[in-house]
Amino acid sequence: MFDRMLRNMPQGARARVENTIDGIGLMMSVRNPQVALDIAPSALRGLVLRQGKMQKHVDMYSAHPVHFDLSYQGDHPEMYDLYRRAVANQWDADQQVDWSIDVDPLNPERPVVGDLVGMDHIQQSLNMRLTPTEQARLKADIGAWVLSQFLHGEQGALYASAQVTESVRWLDGKLYGATQVMDEGRHVETFFRYLDTKLNKLYPVNDNLFVIIDDLMTDSRWDIKFLGMQIMVEGLALGAFSTIYSETREPLLKEALRYIIQDEARHVHYGVLALREHIQSELSAAERREREDWAFEVALLMRNRFLMHEVYEEWFGDRIRRRDWDRMIQTAPGMQQFRKIMFSRLMPNLDYIGLLSDRTKIHYEKAGLMQFASGKNATQLTGEDLLAQNDTISREAARIAS
Ligand SMILES: [Fe+2]
Ligand SMILES: [Fe+2]
Repeated sequence: MFDRMLRNMPQGARARVENTIDGIGLMMSVRNPQVALDIAPSALRGLVLRQGKMQKHVDMYSAHPVHFDLSYQGDHPEMYDLYRRAVANQWDADQQVDWSIDVDPLNPERPVVGDLVGMDHIQQSLNMRLTPTEQARLKADIGAWVLSQFLHGEQGALYASAQVTESVRWLDGKLYGATQVMDEGRHVETFFRYLDTKLNKLYPVNDNLFVIIDDLMTDSRWDIKFLGMQIMVEGLALGAFSTIYSETREPLLKEALRYIIQDEARHVHYGVLALREHIQSELSAAERREREDWAFEVALLMRNRFLMHEVYEEWFGDRIRRRDWDRMIQTAPGMQQFRKIMFSRLMPNLDYIGLLSDRTKIHYEKAGLMQFASGKNATQLTGEDLLAQNDTISREAARIAS
């Protein structure tokens, strides 16, 4: 009966009702009431009011303090070293990436993000047949969706890095932060130019990603912004970029990602340096517990909820129930591999900064995420290491497939 009522609703209203149900489920699943209170206003704006979809821009209000330094003394040699490396490795997206390369997103020889979800899996799980032309278009749309979410995440990173540059107490961190703001501006430029001039398609921000970005922008505590952006979003993005770097056969995107991945490796490195010190020496036990729980909830939000609903609405919203689509995405082998690489980048960093306590390890274990905690953390991996590692993963995947 409820299903029939949903089916008869216009698509926008139906998405809002389904998001509200999702949002209530999300709030019910959050164990720490303080964390639920933190996330609730953003969940309301993102999932129920769908602010990321309704207008051309959104105002987000932040009241973080600006830490104005009066001594100008170098105070963190490792951050200063990262700053020098960032200055030396600046690049010009307009000049160093070959924008003259022709990109045809429908070309089966050069898929933009590979067959991430798996056309066979989609057809089997949803019990339907797609023509070869529909398959090529769906693959191209999935590629545009993934890269659009990268773009929206980059815009979030641009503002988060600007806000955190104001708030951190290390002068060397502020110098480093200035280079990150420049990096993120260049990433926004690169992804937008690629989507706009090569794929000719831009998807709106995913509602769940909007919730996370809104939460980070509006929280006045710098370390929450930092934890959310530098560790969680950037850590997972680094895994996601690396996966697409391995999977893409499109040379322009591959070249751009090679540059971007090296920038991102520095960003996550800076994040773990700053937070390890802060969490271990400056927070009370209660504050630390709250951050442990916040990180766990955001990890779950990101594990479970990047379900390409915008692609679903465009392609299948009128004929397939959203929960069947969700199940299909969650069980897709390519997406499981994608999540595995993303969490292999994130979990060792959460451990290194001290947010995997014995208490929360039990929750991560139940969520199937502890298996990813034993790899190298961001201080042990350079951008070059990551690229080499992904070339190996890519060769291994090709070997298994052949
Ligand atoms: Fe970035
Ligand atoms: Fe970044």
